Amino acid sequence: MIKRPRRLRSNETLRKMVRETRVDKSSLIFPMFVKEGKGIREEIPSMKGQYRYSVDQMFYELEQLSKAGVSSVMLFGIPDHKDELASGAYAEDGIIQKALKEAKRRFPDLYYITDVCLCEYTSHGHCGMLCGHDVDNDTTLKVLAKTALSHVQAGADMVAPSDMMDGRVAAIRNILDEYGYVNTPIMSYAVKYASGFYAPFRDAADSAPAFGDRKTYQMDYHNSREGIREILLDEEEGADIIMVKPALAYLDMIAKAKEVTSLPIAAYSVSGEYAMIKAAAEKGWIDEEKIVCETAIAAFRAGAQSYLTYYAKELARYIDEGKIG
Ligand code: PBG
Repeated sequence: MIKRPRRLRSNETLRKMVRETRVDKSSLIFPMFVKEGKGIREEIPSMKGQYRYSVDQMFYELEQLSKAGVSSVMLFGIPDHKDELASGAYAEDGIIQKALKEAKRRFPDLYYITDVCLCEYTSHGHCGMLCGHDVDNDTTLKVLAKTALSHVQAGADMVAPSDMMDGRVAAIRNILDEYGYVNTPIMSYAVKYASGFYAPFRDAADSAPAFGDRKTYQMDYHNSREGIREILLDEEEGADIIMVKPALAYLDMIAKAKEVTSLPIAAYSVSGEYAMIKAAAEKGWIDEEKIVCETAIAAFRAGAQSYLTYYAKELARYIDEGKIG
């Protein structure tokens, strides 16, 4: 036999020498929930090991992340008060705005991305303004743009719209440019499916829609060409990074995104992916560390440059320990 693929698998040094996918801690982004109040560090029941923090408690977590070598976070806000207009999303003293101001002062070296969406702030839990039972696209754009601007004014380094309204990237790009923030990037949740994998997040952020579902704005998971269309539209509108979400069940879309755009691609391993691994590991049915490493590498192998994950700190440690990398 001349060709023997096993030759290159014969020892660890050689296996690492010829590795096709390499990861670095700088590609990790940690999603975090901040909430109104003081002294709060509540564990999220469906996401064991993840917490809702009040601003004063958030610092301990930021410190841990920083020590672990995770330098980017994605912030989600949980307001005390929700209303029809999502006014907490763009309030100057809104939860995200307060958290950003404090965090930037205490940990200026971390990179702060904010999720721009209205579902955490609307009384009905939908991602936009209602007209009857319909989520009205164009009135929502104005509110999203205002929200993104207020995040950037409070110190956000990057904004990430996750609402799936048509034209939101352009609306946000326009307002940011108008106010002089021409260099603030937009990471667009471009390929975002209407997914059952978000259930633990909605529990964490108390943002489940009060009626109906999100299928009139998030994508139908039977479709992949529609995802390409979303990528191309967002690129035209000025997106700087394209996100695919969820990650694990949509690796095909990460691979396709890599083919159709030259923009960097981020993959979001969402709350349900985290919860499934946690729950099975707790039962002793899988080895948490192995599955976390394997699923993360799958996203990078498919073509992602950046990876949003609730396991960011653990992955940073696995990279340090040479378990992946
Ligand atoms: C806001 C938003 C959601 C997630 C990120 N941004 C929830 C949703 O669309 O219902 C999900 C993240 C996760 O599940 O970890 N729209």
